[in-house]
Amino acid sequence: MKPVKVGLLGLGTVGTGVVRIVEGNQEDLSSQVGSPIVIERIAVKNTEKARDIEVDAAIITDDPWEVIRDPEIDVIVEVMGGIAGTKEYILEALERGKHIVTANKDLMALHGSEILAKAQEKQCDVFYEASVAGGIPIIRTLIEGFSSDKIVKIMGIVNGTTNYILSKMSQEGASYLDVLKEAQELGYAESDPTSDVEGLDAARKMAILGTLGFRTNVELSDVSVSGISGVSKEDIAFAKRLGYEMKLLGIAESHEDEFSISVQPTMIRASHPIASVNGVYNAVYVYGQAVGETMFYGAGAGAMPTATSIVADLVAVIKNLKLGVNGLKQIVPYKQKKLKSDEDIFYKNFLLLHVDDKAGVLAKITQVFAEYDVSLDSVVQQANSHNPDAEIIIVTHNASKASMNKVMRHLEQLKVIHRIKSHYRVEG
Ligand code: HSE
Repeated sequence: MKPVKVGLLGLGTVGTGVVRIVEGNQEDLSSQVGSPIVIERIAVKNTEKARDIEVDAAIITDDPWEVIRDPEIDVIVEVMGGIAGTKEYILEALERGKHIVTANKDLMALHGSEILAKAQEKQCDVFYEASVAGGIPIIRTLIEGFSSDKIVKIMGIVNGTTNYILSKMSQEGASYLDVLKEAQELGYAESDPTSDVEGLDAARKMAILGTLGFRTNVELSDVSVSGISGVSKEDIAFAKRLGYEMKLLGIAESHEDEFSISVQPTMIRASHPIASVNGVYNAVYVYGQAVGETMFYGAGAGAMPTATSIVADLVAVIKNLKLGVNGLKQIVPYKQKKLKSDEDIFYKNFLLLHVDDKAGVLAKITQVFAEYDVSLDSVVQQANSHNPDAEIIIVTHNASKASMNKVMRHLEQLKVIHRIKSHYRVEG
């Protein structure tokens, strides 16, 4: 049996995991695909770097083009990351008829449609299971498992760093900055954590999930994003008291082919299955019109979980090679894109206000909500021994984002409100 030859771009943590799985599970893998799988060439940044895996030095190069241009190679596995340069490598590899497996969510969220169009032109596969929620097979699930259903809602905890931080804050009553510092020391958070904590990483993953779930071209700019850097331990304590957990949730909803998509810290009812996903774990909840509720849970990052998704993609590419159907199973979004306007996006809201503690204040505030037809679910006032102001906690019923924006602008003008301390979306 002629071996299938693979070129690997990158031999960091994930690349090392890919080599381990391809070599360690070779017998089983080759039985599944009907040929041995050989890692033929590997491009690395630094050929001299010490590695905790033994690789034949003869197959290592510091020039990715050597791998891309090698006529022997059938499939390129890209685990080097990066956007502009990496896109050039991938487009050139496709031009040469090579199939692609990538873990690069940034690349797929930003340039996925261009790459998939090129793949279709060249009848090549591009698979990217590892780009969202590392070890959870969610992309295959959305494409294949949900092919018969209409997806109504996707909620995702798709960033492990922020889930670790929020879980610790919730479990230990710790502050955001203290937990962030600890996460950085443990290597869970990057030294520049911006992309994780400000929600950008999650937004890129949600754009990919939205595209597959709603079968339309969801772009990063369609995702409304806010991160967790403003979440205080007091906010989390309030959430818990009201029966909620605070999570950075990606939420994508579709109704009659119009969709909304966002990433924001969200107070989710503690009894919801996704509320119990803690630490660096990821989970994706998918509600299908016919199937109802489903949820997928697992490791969102890490060498071996991510490598399992990559090698599963490799197996899929090789099975297609054997059947001669590469490039034919690609899901190209076919529905016209229709984003919901703010008038049509509805959710509940939590507000914490610091206000004058005197007669008539509550009436003035609730009047603002009434003016924009936002109905209130609960209003609680409490004294705070550290603060001469009264604290008012308001939870609304479902209200349109447009009405809530008007409420917020009006509340900002009210003299009796000293500070709008917090405003969160509420789910469940
Ligand atoms: N920074 C990501 C996370 C890693 O925290 O989940 C995987 O994309």
